[in-house]
Amino acid sequence: MNVIGQPPSRVLSGMRPTGPLHLGHYHGVIKPWVQLQHVHDCYFFVADWHALTTEYEDFSESRMRENVWDMLIDWLASGVDPEIATIFIQSRISQHAELFLLLSMVTSLGRLERVPSFKGQQEVLQDRNLSTFGFLGYPVLQSADILMYRASIVPVGADQVAHVELTREIARSFNYAFGREPDFQTKAEQAIKKLGRRNAGLYRKYQQAYTERGDDEALAKAKNLLESNSNISRGDRERLRGYIEKRGRQILVEPDAYVTEASKVPGLDGQKMSKSYNNAIFLRDDENRISKGIRSMPTDPARTHRHIPGDPEKCPVWDLHKIYSAEETKKWVTIGCKDASIGCVDCKGPLIDSVLAEQKSHKERAEPYIKDRTYLKKVVAEGCERAAVVAEDTMSDVRRYVGTSSYR
Ligand code: TRP
Ligand code: SF4
Repeated sequence: MNVIGQPPSRVLSGMRPTGPLHLGHYHGVIKPWVQLQHVHDCYFFVADWHALTTEYEDFSESRMRENVWDMLIDWLASGVDPEIATIFIQSRISQHAELFLLLSMVTSLGRLERVPSFKGQQEVLQDRNLSTFGFLGYPVLQSADILMYRASIVPVGADQVAHVELTREIARSFNYAFGREPDFQTKAEQAIKKLGRRNAGLYRKYQQAYTERGDDEALAKAKNLLESNSNISRGDRERLRGYIEKRGRQILVEPDAYVTEASKVPGLDGQKMSKSYNNAIFLRDDENRISKGIRSMPTDPARTHRHIPGDPEKCPVWDLHKIYSAEETKKWVTIGCKDASIGCVDCKGPLIDSVLAEQKSHKERAEPYIKDRTYLKKVVAEGCERAAVVAEDTMSDVRRYVGTSSYR
């Protein structure tokens, strides 16, 4: 929630352009975005360069292009509001590539090889050659996306938490490498003396405990000590905080992951909904395909006959009811399933109606963007323009600290 008087936090999240979105994306990712945009300053972007890291081999320009637009259409039709949130395309903000390059200087190879998705995805996608520099660098590019906007909140699924953690480490390394004043150590040592003899002694004790044993309690105590000491200036306080943690000035801001609860959306075969399992219901899908698909969805395997009672907890159709149905309908399902007063065909009826109703209004909201690509492009161009301003602001800071702007 917003705290009155404080600027809203910056939120950043991205999605690879996989084409039209399905209900799993909608309930798991887009709905949380739509809620966040009313509370925070949100940046949502199409991670098209990230898509290339795995798709460079059988690349199709037209498929990529349509995937980008189709995904954007679904974001907009789902209520991601370009008037409130900033929507953009990664490759349109070339600063991402520049920051990616600079971050790569402070990122160790071993650390990247230990990111779980590196080995994990190579195993899942065995048909592709992912022993590339680009794929190894995937999370570094993601770090650049996040750090570029100085985002404090990054809504992601559980599988991405490791990437946000790496982003924090990279930000820290970068700040330490480039964010120290030239005479940092001398100034810090002078500042310690200003603390007074007793406090200087304590500070050194805490510093040692933290550096040698990673003692977090000592770190907290040191911070308290600095906070309550009025002998030192703000600058010195900042310096001494950084001195303990080996942090330079905050050029780049360490973000937090905001793990979006994986809402369980089953696909038409009862497995987790996924485009690659061929079991997805898309947000703009064919009506007949949906009705037929849901009608043939597996149910509680124990209900082999209409008169045999079932258990909703063992039924994927129930997971959809939990998302789509009102309390009253859900009650009707649980009671009717358990005492066999309703059959599975009855049970699926109101669900099909709800999904189709949702599709109808989604398609209506998508219509103006589908009909008029110029309009769609204009909306996205405005977002890109806003994003570029923030990106350039960060990069001009970064270039100053890295020093490259000093010999122009
Ligand atoms: N890696 C993310 C995914 O596969 C997409 C992504 C790229 C992203 N850059 C990001 C997500 C920055 C959050 C923040 O889902
Ligand atoms: Fe599933 Fe509904 Fe059939 Fe029960 S009645 S098994 S909840 S489809």
